[in-house]
Amino acid sequence: MQTPILSLLAALLLSPVNAAGVTGSPSGFAQGTTGGGNATPATPSSLDELKQWITDDVERVILIDREWDFSNTEGSTTGKCCSKEATTKCPGGTSAGQAWIQDDCDDGTWITCTYDNAAKSPLSVGSNKSIVGVGSKGVLKGKGLRVMDGNNNVIIQNIHITDLNPEYVWGGDALTLDGADNVWIDHNKFSLIGRQMIVSGWGKGGHVTISNNEFDGVTEWSAGCNGKHYWSLLLLGLEDFYTFSGNWLHDLSGRAPHMGTDYTDSKILFHGVNNYFQDIDGHAFDIDTNMWVLLEGNYFDNVKTPMTDPSLSSGAQLYTTSTVDAASGCSSALGYICEWNREANTGTWPDRTDKEVLTKFSDYKDFLIGHSGVAGVPESVKANAGVGKV
Ligand SMILES: *[C@@H]1O[C@H](CO)[C@@H](O)[C@H](O)[C@H]1NC(C)=O
Repeated sequence: MQTPILSLLAALLLSPVNAAGVTGSPSGFAQGTTGGGNATPATPSSLDELKQWITDDVERVILIDREWDFSNTEGSTTGKCCSKEATTKCPGGTSAGQAWIQDDCDDGTWITCTYDNAAKSPLSVGSNKSIVGVGSKGVLKGKGLRVMDGNNNVIIQNIHITDLNPEYVWGGDALTLDGADNVWIDHNKFSLIGRQMIVSGWGKGGHVTISNNEFDGVTEWSAGCNGKHYWSLLLLGLEDFYTFSGNWLHDLSGRAPHMGTDYTDSKILFHGVNNYFQDIDGHAFDIDTNMWVLLEGNYFDNVKTPMTDPSLSSGAQLYTTSTVDAASGCSSALGYICEWNREANTGTWPDRTDKEVLTKFSDYKDFLIGHSGVAGVPESVKANAGVGKV
C-alpha cells in the first residue's frame, strides 16, 4: 500500500506528462474517442519525423510545439489558372478574388499562376492518434490533414492550420474526413485556406465532434470579393453524425457550413449548439437534403444570410427555431428544453420545427450535449474558441 506522501510524489512526478497531452475528452457524437490514449506524449524533432508519426500505424500522442512549415518542401507548380469575372477580377469588390486551379475554364480566362504543392496533398492521419498543440505554439503551415480509408479514433486539438495557397480555389483543404470515424476536432484555428477549412465526403465522416474552433475567414483573396473566405465547411459524408459546438465562425462569406447532398445513401445528423457566427457577409447555413439538423443556442451577429432559401425546400429536416416557446417543444421527444437561436443585425432566420428532427435525434439521446444560455454565447465563445485556450 502506498503512503500518502508517496502518492503525492507520484502525482507530482506524473502531472507534467499528463498536462502535455490531450486536455479533456469529447462529448457529443465523438464521445469515446481516445486518440493516442495513454501513449507517452512526444515531440517530433524534424519534419520527416512529424510526417512519419502522423501517418504510421502506431498509437501516438504527438506534440506540436512550434510552427512546422511545409511550404516549398514539395516544390511548386507554375501553370495556368482560371480567372472568372465574379471571383477573380472582383468588379466593385473590396478585396481580390481567388483564381481556380482546374483544367477547364469555360466561363473565364486563363491566367498564369504559381502555387505550392505541399498544400494540395494533406497528410493522411493513422488510427489512434492525438495531434496536440503546446500552448499557443502549434502551427501546421502549408499542409492540412485528412482521416480516410477506414482510419479512426483521432484527436486534433489546439493547432492552427494556415497558409494553404489562399490565393487559389482548390489550393488545399485544412481537414478532410473521407472514410473516417470517431474524430474530435477541438480548439483549433483555421485561416488562409485555399479551399475548405473542414470537408467530408464522399466516404463517411462518421462520429465527429467539432468543438471550440476558430474559423477565421480574414483574407486578401476571397471568392466573395469582400475580404472574407467563402469555402468554410462542406459536409457531404456518407453517414455522418456531427456535434458542432462552441465554434467561432467569423469574417466568412459562404458555406459556413454547406452540408447535405442528394447522393442517395447519404445520411447526416447535425447538432449545432452555442456557436457564434459573426460578421458573415454572405451565407452561414446552406443545407441540402438527407440532413437532420437541430440548432440550439446559436448566436448570429451581423450575418447577411443566416440560412439560404434553398435550404428550406431542399428536403432537409430542420429544427431551427428562434422562439423560446417553439424551442421548448423539443422536450417531450428529447427529455430537455432546447435553447432558442438568436440574431442581431442579421437577415431573416427561418423558424422551422420539423418533427422528423426530434424523432431522429430521440434515437441518439446519449449523444446530445447540453447548452448554455444563448445570451452569453458571444462572450464565452470568443474567450474559449481557438488555440492557446485549452
Ligand atoms: C487502434 O486501437 C485499437 C484499440 O486498441 C486497436 O484495436 C486497433 O488495432 C488500433 N489500430 C491500429 C491501426 O493500430
